[in-house]
This record gives sequence, structure tokens and C-alpha cells, in this order.
Amino acid sequence: MFNYSNCAFALVVWSTLSSQTVLANEPVSAPIKEQLTRQQAIYNSGAARPEGYVIGRTFSAYAHALSGGFVRSLSELGPADRWLDIGAGEGQAILDYSTARFEDMDASVVAKLHNGVKAVAMSIEDRRTQRWHDTAATLGGGQIQYLFGKPLSDYSNEELGQFQVITDVMGGFSYSPRLSQFMEKTLSLLTVGGSYHTVLADVHSESGQNRPHYANSPYLTEIQSASGAEVKMCSWLKRISCVQVSCEFRSDWTPPVEVYRISKTCNEVKVPSLVQTHFHAGTPPERRFMLVDTAPGASVDGVAASPQKTNAVTPAPK
Ligand SMILES: C[S@@+](CC[C@H](N)C(=O)[O-])C[C@H]1O[C@@H](n2cnc3c(N)ncnc32)[C@H](O)[C@@H]1O
Repeated sequence: MFNYSNCAFALVVWSTLSSQTVLANEPVSAPIKEQLTRQQAIYNSGAARPEGYVIGRTFSAYAHALSGGFVRSLSELGPADRWLDIGAGEGQAILDYSTARFEDMDASVVAKLHNGVKAVAMSIEDRRTQRWHDTAATLGGGQIQYLFGKPLSDYSNEELGQFQVITDVMGGFSYSPRLSQFMEKTLSLLTVGGSYHTVLADVHSESGQNRPHYANSPYLTEIQSASGAEVKMCSWLKRISCVQVSCEFRSDWTPPVEVYRISKTCNEVKVPSLVQTHFHAGTPPERRFMLVDTAPGASVDGVAASPQKTNAVTPAPK
């Protein structure tokens, strides 16, 4: 349950931490600070990474995870367009795309993919492999780019530029301790007409059909209103202005996931603010937020009223 004293503590005890990228400019309570340090250790784990920290999903795994919308969006782009993968791990999905390695994918779908789109992989830690270095050198011309060393929020828009398609498969959207700021930044990088394709594991779905995956545990990501009512992730996303959102529950993953397709329709994007109230390091971490809604006439509870472990996320065997 949401705990007001913890929330007040989180708001009152501020601490600016600069030595680790995940903590940069992050105002946090001491317990959350400790968990963020543990999370940083997961990023810095190198070859000794925890089993649940998957860094090598292929392009076809992305296509499968993100449903048809992602591949459709990518197939509509041309060589002047750009794709950003936030939380790319080794960047296998981008490598597969740019070298036309489309395993287990329908030939009619593959035929529509123009692999000339410029692609940028972003990861907090450097997970590049020899395959990445070789492919980047062969392709040349900045066709693929790998950014590392800091989280998305620490980049300026000038550094990154604009993108027509953004993906995030168990990357920043699943790991960020500052979800509304993360979403604001992501949407600011998207062109009008562009789309953001992402996913969350073990979250209460829009239709409300699933319970938390682990017995006696909360959902992995939860939002509550100031009065303590539940705000589903899909409801929160649908409160963002200038976007169209679709939410699709998928039980063919363990734990089940909800897949989000977010299309930007205009530039005046406003993301309802979330305050972090709980963070427990993991793969992905367990997170709770409180919705701070200052919009005139906002009825947070109305929206909400609609209907510790390794959180490894895998698709069910076919
Ligand atoms: C579990 S790996 C997923 C890798 C890849 N998407 C895959 O499915 O194989 C998580 C990735 O997200 C990155 N990440 C986490 N939070 C991030 C943030 N706020 N900004 C950018 N990258 C982030 C990590 O550095 C890592 O590359």
C-alpha cells in the first residue's frame, strides 16, 4: 500500500548525487538512494550481469514483443529518417535491422523493411560487442550509432536530434526512477507523426484482467493518486496531451506484459507529473509513483477508478 510518511520523507529528504550516472540530479531519500546504487551496480556488472538482465534481444524479438505496430512504423520510413532504441543493451536489434538479419520473420513483412534508416542505440553502460564495431565500420557514414555513459534524461535535445520511431524493450521506460520526466524527454525527441513503442512487465493491464505475477508482491510498476487510488499505467499514458495511445495486454510473456504504442499528434505535449515513492533495484526494478495532477478540473480518481525477486521477462515458448 502507498505510505504517506514514506512519500513525505522522499519529498523532504533531498540529496544530490553526482558520482553515478543513474543518480545524476536525482533528489531521493536515503533508502531509495541505496537502491539506486544497487541498480547502478547492475548496469556496471559487465560480464557478471544477473541472469534476468537480458541485453541481447534480436530484431525479431523486438518485432514479437512490440506487436505489429513497430515493424509497420519502421517500414514506412526512408533513408533520411531515424530510429532511436532507448536501453539497447548490446544493440542486437539495430545490428540485425541494419544487416537485414530477420530470422523467424514473415517474408512479406521483411520485404517492406528498408534497412537504410539511421539507427541510434542508447545504453547507460557500454555493452558493444565486436559485431557492433565491425558492423559500424562496414556500414560507415554514421548509419548506426551507439550512445552510452549516461541515461536518456542527461542528453540535450540538440545532442540527440529528432526521431520518427523510438523503441524501448525493457530499457529506460522499465528502469527509469523518474518516469514522467523520462516520458517527457522521450516524447520531445519524437517528430509529430512519429511513434514510441514500448512495453512494461507485470503491470495492471487496462482491462484489469491480471493479478500481480508473484504471489504476495505488488505489480512491478504502480501509480497511485494523492488519495491512494490506483491509476493504471494505460490510464496515465492516455492522460498525456498530444499523443494517441494504445495498450495491449500480452499473456504470452512471463511475467505478462502490456505493450504500448504512443503516437505523437502535436507538439504541446504535457505529461502528468509523477513523484517517485518507492524504488527497489532489480531486472527490472520495482517502482511506485504518486500522480501529482495540477491540471485544472483534473479528476485523477475518476481515471483511477476505471475498471522482491529477479523479474526476468521472457516470452512464452512458441
Ligand atoms: C535489460 S537491458 C535491455 C536491453 C535490450 N533492450 C534488450 O531487450 O536486449 C536494459 C537497458 O536499458 C538501459 N537503460 C536503463 N535505463 C535507462 C535510461 N534511463 N536511459 C537509457 N538507457 C537506460 C540499460 O543501460 C540497458 O542498456
